[in-house]
Amino acid sequence: MDTRDFSAYPTRSAAFEASDDIPVNRSTAPTMGDVINARFGRRDMMRGALAVSATTAIAAPLALSSQEAKAQAGSFTFDEISHGVDETHHVAPGYTADVLIRWGDPVVPGAPAFDPMNQSAEAQSQQFGYNNDFIGYIGLPDGDASDHGIMFVNHEYTNEEVMFPGVGKSDEEFTNMTKDLVDIEMAAHGASVIEIRKDGGSWQVVPDSEYARRLTALGTEMALTGPAAGHDRLKTSTDDTGTRVIGTINNCAGGQTPWGTFLSAEENFHGYFWGDLAEDHPEFANFDRYGLPGKWYAWGQYHDRFDVTKEANEGNRFGYVVEVDPFDPASTPKKRTALGRFRHENAEVIVNGDGRVAVYSGDDQRFEYLYKFITAGTFNADDRAANMDLLDEGTLYVARFDGDGTGEWLALVHGEGPLTAENGFNSQADVVIMARAAADLLGATPMDRPEDVEANPATNKVYVMLTNNTRRTADQVDAANPRAENAWGHIVELTPAGEDHAATTFDWNILVQCGDPSDGAVGATFNPATSENGWFANPDNVAFDARGRMWISTDQGGGWASNSGTADGVWAVETEGDLRGTGRMFFRVPVGAEMCGPKFTPDVTTLFVAVQHVATDGTQHFPGFERDSTFEDPATRWPDFQEGIPPRPSVVAIIKDDGGEIGG
Ligand code: FEO
Ligand code: CA
Ligand code: CA
Ligand code: CA
Repeated sequence: MDTRDFSAYPTRSAAFEASDDIPVNRSTAPTMGDVINARFGRRDMMRGALAVSATTAIAAPLALSSQEAKAQAGSFTFDEISHGVDETHHVAPGYTADVLIRWGDPVVPGAPAFDPMNQSAEAQSQQFGYNNDFIGYIGLPDGDASDHGIMFVNHEYTNEEVMFPGVGKSDEEFTNMTKDLVDIEMAAHGASVIEIRKDGGSWQVVPDSEYARRLTALGTEMALTGPAAGHDRLKTSTDDTGTRVIGTINNCAGGQTPWGTFLSAEENFHGYFWGDLAEDHPEFANFDRYGLPGKWYAWGQYHDRFDVTKEANEGNRFGYVVEVDPFDPASTPKKRTALGRFRHENAEVIVNGDGRVAVYSGDDQRFEYLYKFITAGTFNADDRAANMDLLDEGTLYVARFDGDGTGEWLALVHGEGPLTAENGFNSQADVVIMARAAADLLGATPMDRPEDVEANPATNKVYVMLTNNTRRTADQVDAANPRAENAWGHIVELTPAGEDHAATTFDWNILVQCGDPSDGAVGATFNPATSENGWFANPDNVAFDARGRMWISTDQGGGWASNSGTADGVWAVETEGDLRGTGRMFFRVPVGAEMCGPKFTPDVTTLFVAVQHVATDGTQHFPGFERDSTFEDPATRWPDFQEGIPPRPSVVAIIKDDGGEIGG
């Protein structure tokens, strides 16, 4: 199938998945499996993999008395919900899940009410955008408040077939997509900053807040900072400085800093570009390695900068981590090029013991890499201004996982090792712009699609959500990616040497291989104490609560029916003790949706989750519906359930009915 023919896929998400199949110019460096095979032989490599997984909790409860197991089970006290799929959301008994804000709700003062039959880019630029993904939260007036705060929400992408009347699923030429509709899409991308308050036991958006802001792909000017700023490869016909760019796109997950800013990760930026990438294009090798032009949207038809033929360098101005100061709605967001250009899933921040700041980020494509950035300077808790450009200077690393359960962070530094002019890297700007190619040369380990990465603040262990990789063949299996045709994903746990996030070595382990544990062919390794509803597939986002307990949200895409048979949701997962590797289902999304967020208030009495692309993925497998959704005929009209109102991606606030800690 031609992966660039968007019309060949039932939904945008399916095209996203398939984009991973675009062949890339990878270095000829041997994979980790090749190296281990050559050194130890295939059988030893497999034994190594087994030795690693034996340290997971797969057999641990068998050694426990039932009393001991029960005592351990106290970590999460909620009654889990069941696997399933229907038109609405579900949460554990004793909890209430209320919609906080929906696509089209007013954000900035004076925003018009949602009117799906008469939507405009001007209205959308003032309203909550589409496909809410990352959620950040900072308490007001100080960061710890859990009943009043600033919320930052990413708007990753748009689904025109359920957004706009009369459009339906786009064909290859996007025949129904007018410039007006494209501009609405661009305004529905980006992020929202809102102020929220808990009043009378439930959360509300504060109207006309001084913090309220929309960031869009259509009109928000951003600065390019760090080593690539001002480089010729960032200059365009509208920006001869190489330091200013309009907008941000495909903002997936993100992070937040201890100095009170939010980080937003530009993920599948390649999908927005049109044009012909000829071999004599100045960025041919670079763009080809990243999958540009993807042509998943009609934007290039009306905006020349999204056509690689007409504007050669615009594709070098996306694929970054964007830092936003939510306390100043007039501030210029900064694209931090020091953190590298790739399909950033997220940007998870943790302050290291020595005060330097670590930012972990996955590159979400099959066979791509795990990265971290360590700042040169240190965090100063007493001087906010001194921290504001910390992310412009430091060292970017990429991970190599070795078969003996150790690993190394390889520095992407111009002039070191192969990152020289001889190999096309004339400066650190070239290294960060072509981070993937640099990582290829260093021998980084190709992973099974790194999604969210987060450090458990209680243990300093780092968890990597590897969502799936159905393209990995038996020959490409390695210890850190142990299953061929991995449709279900797994979770890798890193322990930084000395609990030092700046250390260049680590130990690693597999927390759990996901999928149905009752099907031996799947090879899942959930703890046997996991119930029939406690297992899941395709981990995507992860959050830790104040006690250091893990909560995972899933994204099975159109594969939900075969990967698990349940809609996506949130699962609580044990990481320590004898129940390590046990899951428990807490929340479930409506049909066709994906679970994003999740984010706790500091006191863990609220869990915010983002319900994304409602009614789109895999609705062909939804019993009784069994067709693709459109605006006129969606699989569900969640959350409004009103005739004529389409399904709406929404942020949901979950609280315990007794006001207590989520998860008990
Ligand atoms: Fe946007 Fe990798 O999920
Ligand atoms: Ca997503
Ligand atoms: Ca994601
Ligand atoms: Ca995903």
